[in-house]
Amino acid sequence: RTEFGPVSYNERGKFWEVFGYDDVLELASDYETFSSDGSPFAEYPEEMTKGQSVLTTDPPRHRQLRSLVSQAFTPRAIASMAPRIAEITNDLLDQVTRQGKMDVIADFSYPLPVIVIAEMLGVPSEDRARFKHWSDQMVVSEYEDLSRDNVEEYNKRVRTIMRQTLDELYDYFRQVLAERRLRPQHDLVSALLAAQIEGESLFEQGILAFCSLLLVAGNITTTNLIGNALLCFDEHPEVMEQLHARPELIPQAIEEVLRYRPPALLVGRYATRPVEIHGCKISTGESIIGWLASANFDPAQFPDPQRFDIGRAPNRHLGFGHGIHFCLGAPLARLETKIALSILLERFEHIRRERLQPIETIRSVFIMGPRHLPV
Ligand code: HEM
Repeated sequence: RTEFGPVSYNERGKFWEVFGYDDVLELASDYETFSSDGSPFAEYPEEMTKGQSVLTTDPPRHRQLRSLVSQAFTPRAIASMAPRIAEITNDLLDQVTRQGKMDVIADFSYPLPVIVIAEMLGVPSEDRARFKHWSDQMVVSEYEDLSRDNVEEYNKRVRTIMRQTLDELYDYFRQVLAERRLRPQHDLVSALLAAQIEGESLFEQGILAFCSLLLVAGNITTTNLIGNALLCFDEHPEVMEQLHARPELIPQAIEEVLRYRPPALLVGRYATRPVEIHGCKISTGESIIGWLASANFDPAQFPDPQRFDIGRAPNRHLGFGHGIHFCLGAPLARLETKIALSILLERFEHIRRERLQPIETIRSVFIMGPRHLPV
């Protein structure tokens, strides 16, 4: 922040970037000036970035969509999932207990949210290898082999991969929708089909876009929150000890992980009118990225920001964003992570990261987390 100033222009990506807490908050809050209906990243197919799901619409459409999907995503519905989440957690840990070691990501934090979302949506959790493949494709984390030297060429390649991924994903969910129309079940897809607001129900494309969003927005992020939490605790053994002794502190420790190692790094918007931020003139239509990860380290908001401190109060981190697009899945992510960490710490007194290899992280501009975490 000090090196680049509070606002900078990214020549290569052709977008503005803001870093400070207040600026990121403003970007996320003022939806009239900063629209979500379009992506700052040129490589994405327009279908993914404009007017399809809650994430990529502005009011009034956003309000309608959000009320529709919230009907199927109520706090009560989420809370009622706790026993099942605990059961899945214990099953996953049973499978690794005898080996005495595991990769937290592959064996635990990846399958847990995928199974939960698959069960919520009412699709077979055996399909999770396909879910993983689609999720990976969508966050552009697996494209290290593609050269970025030629931006045009890179964008074209990514667009092709995305297109293919969306086609596969939509075909898959189209079948699920067709089955649920004939035989509704007690699941999210049936609830989405039934949800109505002002006499309007979600059109098929809207449900497909939302299901894909859940798969992508809800899985890798939660996997990373659990992985990032264990990394933080491993770096701070005194915190690990404290949480073993007082598991009731786990929820506030999770909030500090969301600040210190946020799984989602940024939010993207574009300007609907000319606007000036710290003397920088941004024109209508230009894109702006707000770095959540940087705002979370703004010393004006978080004293001694480099310190991992589970006692921070208040802790108004931006890990789940802010404003009308505040993460719809936050209660679910918090619940899953709390249950996962509580059971893990309860069952294993000593959890040590294998130090033979350096931590390899996911390479993506959107998300942050370890690719593997052997313990
Ligand atoms: C929105 C982060 C888990 C569903 C967001 C946003 C962030 C975020 C930063 C705001 C995007 C913006 O303003 O442009 C996270 C993190 C998670 C997580 C860090 C886990 C630790 C989940 C889960 C679900 C979910 C589990 C669903 C099952 C959504 C949806 C939106 C959203 C639907 C769009 C809301 C709207 O635009 O109104 N998330 N998320 N997220 N998230 Fe999450």
